[in-house]
Amino acid sequence: MQIAIDGPASSGKSTVAKIVATKLGFVYVDTGAMYRASTVLAQKLGLDFGDEAGILAALKEADIQFKPDQAGQKVFLNGEDITLAIRTPEITNNVSQVSALAGVRTEMVARQRQIADQGQVVMDGRDIGTTVLPAAKVKIFMVASAQERAKRRYAENTAKGIMTPLATLQAEIELRDQKDSTRAISPLKKADDAIEIDTTQLTIDEVVDTILAIVKKNM
Ligand code: DC
Repeated sequence: MQIAIDGPASSGKSTVAKIVATKLGFVYVDTGAMYRASTVLAQKLGLDFGDEAGILAALKEADIQFKPDQAGQKVFLNGEDITLAIRTPEITNNVSQVSALAGVRTEMVARQRQIADQGQVVMDGRDIGTTVLPAAKVKIFMVASAQERAKRRYAENTAKGIMTPLATLQAEIELRDQKDSTRAISPLKKADDAIEIDTTQLTIDEVVDTILAIVKKNM
């Protein structure tokens, strides 16, 4: 069974998708982390974030692996642990540019489908229900107001000692939404057959329970 969870930045997708996958015993695939890993690769090689040919050549040779860990999941690029490196502000602010490159998307989508072919998955991203796994049995589209998403990111950052003002975070989230929704290839879009869940007023447990109930109905 394939479960696709899409939605804008900081809508709570990964937190919820991880819990749903654990409860069902499915593999969790964080596709945003794959685009972030591609951005880290470009940064390490000193490539321009718009250099499609350069990034793609490096990416074709690159090994990106996820390994489960008590805190969630670790991400490795060519054997190096980049779990923290993919979340820095520089990567967060440039990943939209790298993920808009056609060649990068083709390569990532092929890898995502390969992982999904191996078993039961919960995959989260922007284009899973529309492009990567259009035949997914369950498709969820999670939304929340930009203000609420900025508040959640602010709380996460504060816990990590990152002190970006709330208004800056909200502006960054709105800019990323705009870039992700208006790009030419596979923009962020609700699939026609996806079920929308507005999480603005919901707790994580409530969202998880809502999704598990939808999954049970479709099993
Ligand atoms: O979910 P996230 O914030 O980690 O995603 C990082 C970026 O990657 C986001 O700005 C959009 C892009 N992305 C994408 O284009 N397609 C996906 N399936 C997942 C993420």
